[in-house]
Amino acid sequence: MIYSVPSDLQMNFPRDFVWGVATSAYQIEGAAIEDGKGLSVWDKFCRVPGAIADGSDGDIACDHYHRWQEDIDLIADLGVNAYRFSVSWPRVRPTGSGEWNSKGMDFYERLVDGLMKRGIQPYVTLNHWDLPAELQFTGGWASRDTVFRFVEYASKVQQRLGDRVHAITTHNEPWVMSVLGHKRGIFAPGIKDRAIAMQVSHHLLLSHGMALKALREQGCTAGLGIVLNLSPMHPASDAPQDHAKTVLEDGLLLRWYMDPLFKGTYPSDVLEHLGGDAPRVQSGDLDIIATPMDFLGINYYSRSVVSAAGTWDVHLSGREITDMGWEVYPEGLTELLLRVHNDYAVPPIYVTENGGAFKDVCNDGQIHDPLRTDYIARHIAAVSEAIRQGVRMKGYMVWSLLDNFEWASGYEKRFGIVHVDYATQRRTLKDSALWYRGFLHRQSAMRENYDAAATQTNHSEWNTVAIGA
Ligand code: FCB
Repeated sequence: MIYSVPSDLQMNFPRDFVWGVATSAYQIEGAAIEDGKGLSVWDKFCRVPGAIADGSDGDIACDHYHRWQEDIDLIADLGVNAYRFSVSWPRVRPTGSGEWNSKGMDFYERLVDGLMKRGIQPYVTLNHWDLPAELQFTGGWASRDTVFRFVEYASKVQQRLGDRVHAITTHNEPWVMSVLGHKRGIFAPGIKDRAIAMQVSHHLLLSHGMALKALREQGCTAGLGIVLNLSPMHPASDAPQDHAKTVLEDGLLLRWYMDPLFKGTYPSDVLEHLGGDAPRVQSGDLDIIATPMDFLGINYYSRSVVSAAGTWDVHLSGREITDMGWEVYPEGLTELLLRVHNDYAVPPIYVTENGGAFKDVCNDGQIHDPLRTDYIARHIAAVSEAIRQGVRMKGYMVWSLLDNFEWASGYEKRFGIVHVDYATQRRTLKDSALWYRGFLHRQSAMRENYDAAATQTNHSEWNTVAIGA
């Protein structure tokens, strides 16, 4: 027995459902100053004393820049059909506005070709937080100029890779860049100013819309979308203060992004709350932001429980808590997907990240991670339940393929389904990866059975798979 997944969970997925694994450039690539790469805001931020829990940085990380072939062999071995990764902007345009670095672009070209050769669809993210440091000197995302530099960068990537990649995501988690990077200052670039944070969020959304328009004008064939980190918000008690605070927090996390993207407005209660810290919005901006998308990506890890006094302790739930201190709450994913589906006219949805940091037990060359396996299986079941209730789901991607540099937590938190020994860079499939591979194998076996049966009977669009062994 290598996992603790209940064998009675049954799940249904559309035949064309996409299964994947995800990473991001700064967290795995290393080669921080190699082949002409410029510095990013994260290269700089890691040098700030105390910024990263273990004092580490992404200089080497998983050395994926040199080991990419081994890594995509691993991906192929898992049996997934999609790989979500990000392009490092300063690797392809070191200062963000000057010369392009052909060696950087060549790297991603080789990666994409290697994936295609192995039958894996590339899902590219343009901005997974590693803004060229040079652009931060002129205001970074708080400056409207950065919006135009991003559109140039997006266009360049589309010209080089757009004919082969399946999807292009503009930004990963604008809330994190805005709030953790510019309001709380615990992520790069380490600014603590609410007005700047809100201006940043507006520029991220505006650059998303402008990039979509530009890429479509260029005849881009890849699907285009954005990835948001969303959670259901639950009040800690029935007290009216807790309810009011929950509505506001939901406004700041979910409606602040979903309303402009799908309704072309910012939520009025949040604008009122922000007062003078609300962003400067030019006429026409909101129409651009609401440019239709081909897909919406949602990253889900946990719910949020909100108390007006800020006193709710995650241990009160009595649930499993991950190594990040996040409550394991799979039904929140079903709830969230249904909410988004019911409240907004959304395109097909991918869960673009889902997974857990847990302590692994290494034994005889095997890596036992039953809690991670259980986490992933239960969240996949939660997606299946959303599909059963009518949500248009396109895919699910595990965070993460590899243990990697977990931002301000450094290397102490491990999210990988593949273990990385940082001293030797040796990769070992954890039990969770073996489980995922087995699960996907049963999926495709089921599909083949349906295909065989379809010649005689009515074709079924669905795969039904038991989640256990
Ligand atoms: C998300 C990030 C991803 C990773 C996971 C754990 O917020 O997109 O890079 O750090 O959290």
